[in-house]
Amino acid sequence: MTHQAVVEIKNLSAGYGHHQVLQQLDLTLRHGEALGIAGQNGAGKTTLFKIILGLLKPQKGRVSVLGKTPDSAQTRRLMRRQIGYVPQLQTPGKMPVCVHDAVMMGRWGKGFGFFRRPTEDDRRKVSEILHEVGISHKHWQEVNLLSGGEQQKVSIGRALIREAPILLMDEPTTYLDHGSQAEIIELIKTIRLKHELSLIMISHDPEHLEAMSDRILLLKNGRLEER
Ligand SMILES: Nc1ncnc2c1ncn2[C@@H]1O[C@H](COP(=O)(O)OP(=O)(O)OP(=O)(O)O)[C@@H](O)[C@H]1O
Ligand SMILES: [Mg+2]
Repeated sequence: MTHQAVVEIKNLSAGYGHHQVLQQLDLTLRHGEALGIAGQNGAGKTTLFKIILGLLKPQKGRVSVLGKTPDSAQTRRLMRRQIGYVPQLQTPGKMPVCVHDAVMMGRWGKGFGFFRRPTEDDRRKVSEILHEVGISHKHWQEVNLLSGGEQQKVSIGRALIREAPILLMDEPTTYLDHGSQAEIIELIKTIRLKHELSLIMISHDPEHLEAMSDRILLLKNGRLEER
């Protein structure tokens, strides 16, 4: 299990219309590994996440997540279920909902869906996760009113509650003050071990990447390079 590739990308080209962003890119994420990705603004870091999440179709190349390839709607759905996603900050901040509901939404399609309402079990899971990310005292607070660091914890909680083995985090520390950055870095280290996650993190900050990752790659000219 230890050396199994959970995400494997070979010879990927991708972009938007005629604008090629990723070119002949290769990537292997191994089971239990925390991989950091650095790169300048516009290098294509978020685009790479969209490919792994199945939100953008490759122009060329092969992507597999836990051995599955995104050939049909069904395999794409199966792949997506294996991945928790913490988007660049601000996205969850716009939601006029309380912390509890924001995290519960992460369970959509996993614990409940169109045909089943959240049960006591789902609610217990939310409480457990809120405790784990250190925000249980804000359980019923509106997400809009939280600080950046607290919103990031909600976002991490929402990804964790999917109980997916792979976690993608886009700039988890970037827009936070120093204190919150240190807290989020510690939190990521803890949840990583506890949930045996395989992680990919994007960050502009080399120090943060060093602190959180086992290995760091640089996205440049459409490809990933060893630093
Ligand atoms: N939906 C889109 N349609 C057209 N072009 C896009 C789209 N999304 C991104 N791009 C372009 O693709 C390139 C890569 O964008 P991407 O968001 O992947 O960069 P990034 O490395 O995540 O940058 P940042 O560090 O600023 O978040 C940029 O030139 C961007 O303008
Ligand atoms: Mg980005």
